[in-house]
Amino acid sequence: MLFNGELPSATELEQYKKRLAGMRALPEALKDVLERIPAGAHPMDVMRTGCSMLGNLEGEDDFTQQQAVSDRLLATLPGIITYWYRYSHDGVRIDTDVEADNIAAHFLTLLHGTDPDPLHQRVLDVSLILYAEHEFNASTFTARVCASTLSDMHSCVTGAIGSLRGPLHGGANEAAMDLIDSFASVEAAEKGILDMLARKDKIMGFGHAVYRESDPRNALIKRWSKELSDSVGDQKLFAISEAIERLMWEEKKLFPNADFFHASAYRFMGIPTKLFTPIFVMSRTSG
Ligand code: COA
Repeated sequence: MLFNGELPSATELEQYKKRLAGMRALPEALKDVLERIPAGAHPMDVMRTGCSMLGNLEGEDDFTQQQAVSDRLLATLPGIITYWYRYSHDGVRIDTDVEADNIAAHFLTLLHGTDPDPLHQRVLDVSLILYAEHEFNASTFTARVCASTLSDMHSCVTGAIGSLRGPLHGGANEAAMDLIDSFASVEAAEKGILDMLARKDKIMGFGHAVYRESDPRNALIKRWSKELSDSVGDQKLFAISEAIERLMWEEKKLFPNADFFHASAYRFMGIPTKLFTPIFVMSRTSG
């Protein structure tokens, strides 16, 4: 829908999914580069380098290739991040060209090495849809500045990844997780947030440059986070998140943006915190 301006028919969707599924293999030279990036690197830097390296290997000659490059990036970004992650953290070279129904399933399969839990696949799919496109945000702006000079798609997306990395933009989902993790209980969270507000600290995952009363994406991801919380028998994380939400509204009339409940949702699915923002890249590239 984002590419063509209208929803695909069921057949068109199947064809497009098949097309992406056929483009998941990573070139050897790209794998070599990914293997040289240290485990301590920031995963958003891995995404940036992966995208840029692909641009060297599969250069663009003219603008008729834009759709093909977009498809190739959507098909390879989950493999780029998980290939590096599994190699640098677990010492294994994964095959990124695996059977998987969609981008969500592809990422979860590569990360965990097993078929994904259907609930996790559904929630990640919803998450990718929520993040896919969001008008004139900072990373889109960056990509458009680059495009305005008639540059190539890989350069546009590489630059956009750099903008998305910051904690005031895509990096907020990771920063929100670190914040929530720093509290051992609802009471500690309430006290901690009040202290932070008194110091005029920013609370990550709250507020928005355009929305004034609520972020419509929040209600959706919050509902899924609750369902995941129940499914794993969580007694703490969701309650702390809700307590922070309540307090931020009472104290500052600030609401959670899409990033805040994404943090707990991703955690319940067993996704390492440092991979949260790369998921945003896998999605927003389509926008
Ligand atoms: N925590 C604490 N205070 C916040 C806040 C937050 N997350 N977001 C906004 N505020 C404060 C601002 O400092 C400002 O206070 P002031 O009037 O005393 O200067 C007031 O609320 C109004 O800010 P507003 O104009 O609505 O926000 P903005 O357009 O300047 O910034 C963001 C928008 C998204 C950059 C900002 O809300 C933010 O940094 N949020 C945290 C990072 C984040 O979650 N980013 C992801 C966005 S989708």
